Amino acid sequence: MPFCRPTNWEGMDSIDADEIDPDFCPTDDGMPMLGLGTWENTDAEQCAESVRVALETGYRHIDTAQAYGNEEAVGEGIARADVDREDVFLATKIWTSNLAHEDVLSSARESLSRLGVGYVDLLYVHWPAEAYEPAETLAAFSKLHEEGRVRNVGVSNFQPEQVAEAIDVCEAPVVANQVELHPLLQQEQLREACEEYDVSVVAYSPLARGAVFEVDVLNEIAAKHGVSEAAVSLAWLREQGVTAIPKATGEDHIRDNWESLALELDEEDIGAINAIEQSRREVDPSFAPWN
Ligand SMILES: NC(=O)c1ccc[n+]([C@@H]2O[C@H](COP(=O)([O-])OP(=O)(O)OC[C@H]3O[C@@H](n4cnc5c(N)ncnc54)[C@H](OP(=O)(O)O)[C@@H]3O)[C@@H](O)[C@H]2O)c1
Repeated sequence: MPFCRPTNWEGMDSIDADEIDPDFCPTDDGMPMLGLGTWENTDAEQCAESVRVALETGYRHIDTAQAYGNEEAVGEGIARADVDREDVFLATKIWTSNLAHEDVLSSARESLSRLGVGYVDLLYVHWPAEAYEPAETLAAFSKLHEEGRVRNVGVSNFQPEQVAEAIDVCEAPVVANQVELHPLLQQEQLREACEEYDVSVVAYSPLARGAVFEVDVLNEIAAKHGVSEAAVSLAWLREQGVTAIPKATGEDHIRDNWESLALELDEEDIGAINAIEQSRREVDPSFAPWN
């Protein structure tokens, strides 16, 4: 499935960061492999500016959720940016209390209205919890897909067996599972299962919410290449075929993360990161399916 894997990825490694072109992240037939996260970017003006700056830097994938309380600000950032809406891959998520069939339909309409758009490129089930009933919930997602309000259906925080069940009951293809994934939580089994199901993996908290800056192996690789630990983490994820959505607020972080697209890790770097044995979860609510 081409989804999530840019078709013109070849040649990426040799380009200079200043020359990174949005065309390296096409949206016509694939989800851009680097997106902007927006959780806790709740000051409306700041959030709108983060989104605008990211889009004008070259990002074409923005991740938000009903639960972040910033869909309106994200929409404002998209409207402000000198980029066409059709060129932006916009993802949002339905919160757990809105997962009953009728609530999916009504709250998705409200999300579209807050975002100021006619469709989203990806709509996720945020967590398999509370009002989530696989067949009922996903029938509503399929209806939105059929109506063209939702271009792709995704799930988030799903364990392999829940992904399999979702695929089984959902009429529309389930294209992505967004999960916590970074060098300190490598999720090999989940990644293997998703590959088997042909479901793309999207890494949330790809910087382990800042913890990547405190890891010796990453410090050393960052120093060797003269880049940040954030860039190393993002380049490693890309190397694994995983889309990443780091949250960054100001232009310096937004740009630093974007420049990770020009970083090529060597085999030794990748081997050293793969060998990190820590298992550190940053997002671990009591209702998570693994608890
Ligand atoms: N589906 C889910 O359940 C779920 C759960 C968690 C997250 N998410 C999504 O994933 C996104 C990313 O995850 P996250 O926000 O948890 O954590 P993250 O992206 O791993 O880390 C964000 C933190 O790193 C800092 N940062 C970003 N770039 C940096 C750089 N180049 N150098 C130094 N510091 C940098 C940010 O600071 P500044 O803000 O100051 O730039 C922020 O404090 C979220 O925003 C959200 O969209 C989804």
